[in-house]
Amino acid sequence: MSSSIATTQIIRPARTFHGSVTIPGDKSISHRYAMLAGFAEGTTRLANFSTGADPHSSLACVEALGATVVKKDVTTIEVTGVAGSFQQPRGALDCGNSGSTMRMLAGLVAAQPHTFTMIGDHSLTMRPMERIRRPLSMMGARIDLIDGHAPMTIHGGPLKAIDFETPIPSAQVKSAVLFAGLQAKGTTSLSEAVRTRDHSEHALRAFGADLERKDDRLRIAGGQKLKSVEATVPGDISSAAFFLCAALLFPDSNLVLDSLGMNPTRAALLDVITALGGKIKVLNVEEHHGELIGTIQVNRSPEGLKGARISGELSAQLIDELPVLAAIAPYTRDGVTIRDAKELRVKESDRIALVAKNLKAMGAQLTEYEDGLAIPGGQQLHGATIDSGTDHRIAMAFSIAALRASGETEIQGAEAAAISFPEFFSYLDSLCKR
Ligand code: S3P
Repeated sequence: MSSSIATTQIIRPARTFHGSVTIPGDKSISHRYAMLAGFAEGTTRLANFSTGADPHSSLACVEALGATVVKKDVTTIEVTGVAGSFQQPRGALDCGNSGSTMRMLAGLVAAQPHTFTMIGDHSLTMRPMERIRRPLSMMGARIDLIDGHAPMTIHGGPLKAIDFETPIPSAQVKSAVLFAGLQAKGTTSLSEAVRTRDHSEHALRAFGADLERKDDRLRIAGGQKLKSVEATVPGDISSAAFFLCAALLFPDSNLVLDSLGMNPTRAALLDVITALGGKIKVLNVEEHHGELIGTIQVNRSPEGLKGARISGELSAQLIDELPVLAAIAPYTRDGVTIRDAKELRVKESDRIALVAKNLKAMGAQLTEYEDGLAIPGGQQLHGATIDSGTDHRIAMAFSIAALRASGETEIQGAEAAAISFPEFFSYLDSLCKR
């Protein structure tokens, strides 16, 4: 978020929360469609493409690599790909704030016979990239980092297949290996310690690649070509998470979300919402290129909010939703404990530290662990000045906590929301009844 102007948003408490909205296109899926469309042969038409700044960084990068990107309207994009041969970009590939762009694109370019330099903003430059260098170097790419961080220079060239176990749960690392494996000599096989979001698997198949999953092991043969598709991006469940949590805060809330992505590797949130005391009705579901898309209705059960313990695999599956679950934890009866979530410390900000700092600013008691937080329930919060750390999910999570606080809350660095959800504050305003 280095280039946008810092803005502050004032959030006043709400009386209740209801309405019906269509959440913009999923950030994770938009990245993958943008990259694979840029690499494939032919023109891909993408509808409901994410309006977030991050997937637009991916589009700008594939454009710099030789693809043609035409924006038909705000969310409909046509990408004509390079048919498997990226060009040498003229300058550095600017990934902005987007870890997904840098890490996944690294896998796609590593097999190409050019030198690619990838840069990002201050936050991205702080994030660990060794996790990408390791598998890609095993495959034969030469990658320069500075102390494990961007700028990253990839000296691409012919790659060989590897057998790889992802040591940390990361869909981005998995995707980088699959995208490189698609172009390597031999068949790459990969297993994950914890099963992470599988959008890359679905997207690769949608673009015509053969990919096999057997006993928790993925196998992808090299030398495969991709073909353009027509695709509609489902609504982003991680963006919806803010409103789902807001709906939990009011006894008479009612929220309907349509065209929402409900991929099982992303939908653990719905189980947690239910366990906390939300009532979810799935009104319809369909499948598009392997992704489930549905309409859901959510309100709060009359018994109110219970509590939750999130640990182990669940923490990895909910990694992007943990900030908002933590932000509403004080309003639950039994509190929320989050463990095994050390990865939160290396996201766009140190999300454990920032959640703790901002909850304390609002008057909450909590315990901070290296890998999580324990936030007791039954606490009333007061309005405060929130430091978003220019992290989109922190800005949005505390806007939700503010809805039940006493007094006004000032979200500093609110512009960060545009990284994944530029419409967040206007949607929030339309859903809050005051
Ligand atoms: C993402 C994977 C997750 C997530 C990020 C998006 C993806 O990151 O936090 O917002 O699209 O694959 P990691 O792969 O680093 O866990």
